[in-house]
Amino acid sequence: MPGHFLIFTSPIAVILCCCAALIDITSGASVEEYKLLQSTLLTNYSTSVRPLLDQDDTVFVYSGFYLAGINEVDAVNQRLITTGFLELSWDDEFLQWDEDEFDIQTLYFKQKDIWTPDVVLKNGITTFEELGGEFYYLQVTSDGRVTWLPFQVLESKCFIDITYFPFDDQKCSITFHSWSFSKDEVNVTLFVDDPSPVDSYNYVENSVWGIVSTDAFASPEIEAESEVTFILHLRRKPLYFIVNLISPIVLLGVVRLLVFVIPADAGEKMSFAMAVFLSFAVFLSIISMHLPTNSEKTSLLGVYIVVQMIIGVGTIVISSFQLRLHHRKSERKVGVFFRGVVKVERFLRCTTCNESRKVSGEKNVEVSLHDDDNGIINWTDVSSAIDFVSFWTMLVFEITAMTIIIATLIGGYDLIG
Ligand SMILES: *[C@@H]1O[C@H](CO)[C@@H](O)[C@H](O)[C@H]1NC(C)=O
Ligand SMILES: *[C@@H]1O[C@H](CO)[C@@H](O)[C@H](O)[C@H]1NC(C)=O
Repeated sequence: MPGHFLIFTSPIAVILCCCAALIDITSGASVEEYKLLQSTLLTNYSTSVRPLLDQDDTVFVYSGFYLAGINEVDAVNQRLITTGFLELSWDDEFLQWDEDEFDIQTLYFKQKDIWTPDVVLKNGITTFEELGGEFYYLQVTSDGRVTWLPFQVLESKCFIDITYFPFDDQKCSITFHSWSFSKDEVNVTLFVDDPSPVDSYNYVENSVWGIVSTDAFASPEIEAESEVTFILHLRRKPLYFIVNLISPIVLLGVVRLLVFVIPADAGEKMSFAMAVFLSFAVFLSIISMHLPTNSEKTSLLGVYIVVQMIIGVGTIVISSFQLRLHHRKSERKVGVFFRGVVKVERFLRCTTCNESRKVSGEKNVEVSLHDDDNGIINWTDVSSAIDFVSFWTMLVFEITAMTIIIATLIGGYDLIG
């Protein structure tokens, strides 16, 4: 064609032509070729037939999990909300092409246009629905390898054991399951030789829960169900609860000892004991807000508060009787039991006053007064003896209980491992 030849000779045309050639080289295949390849592959393609030439074969779906964040560990509703995506990969024998012929390495198909495994979150709480969505593109390489990365906010069920709250560890699993197919048809497994099946992707640390370790496994050979389970081993960061829950409870226990320090004449004893008792009740209700309504497992901290409330009731009962005794007429004889209480008090006190007698002779006067008093015990003595004995008994009890509860709660870490 002479016309063509003419155009080629003009310099502008040569430059244009070179540019066109350059574009052609960088882009590889043309738009038309992409369209052609895509429509050729999708002609006669059925999204409901497993992508195998031999339909007796198994489709192997390899999977991994990428965690972007733990949104919430909800003990009350026993659920775990995570954000992340699943990486699923399988071979589609109907989506293979010759790279030499088309010069195209990868193609993208909409999720609804090609076959995808019906993988669903098995232990989910909300509606049981397909992963991914309308807008997802799936990458396909020339050898037919399809990669699907459905990003999801996953709400899964997790049994949360609050026995050791707030020093607790939880193991939550996220299970994905091929709902309709058996393992012989679609075998969902983990990536072969993947050192970390649960990986992080722009992971944002949760303020209350840290990840201790992760694990993953495919369902065992004997099971017909085709599923993979990803396990997150979580640990609560206890600082908030130590500051806002445990230390006030411990301090309240200390404050309650003062019931036996306030003199009976001051008239404050009862209201003080009552106020401390009510404060424990307030903390019990605060704890209940953090814990599930669960009759199978009870939080040890909750039990500790209930024990503290029982002691509080004991304190109120002792104080009321003590006040009554304190105001008894001095004519009434002090009974054997109350004499016993006073003896116990004097015995306890004298272990120290004997020592002081040795140290300084001046104390002798005081000590001999005590000795003289031995015979005449009045109701005021009884009242102060009750204070003394109760104070020390409670102090020992309080320290023991506190040590036991804290040691037990922290010991909970080792039990779960
Ligand atoms: C699609 O299937 C029809 C009927 O089986 C067949 O005639 C046709 O050649 C197929 N087309 C392609 C591109 O395979
Ligand atoms: C499923 O895949 C796993 C791992 O590749 C394999 O060990 C197992 O035998 C397969 N099961 C079936 C039923 O094909």
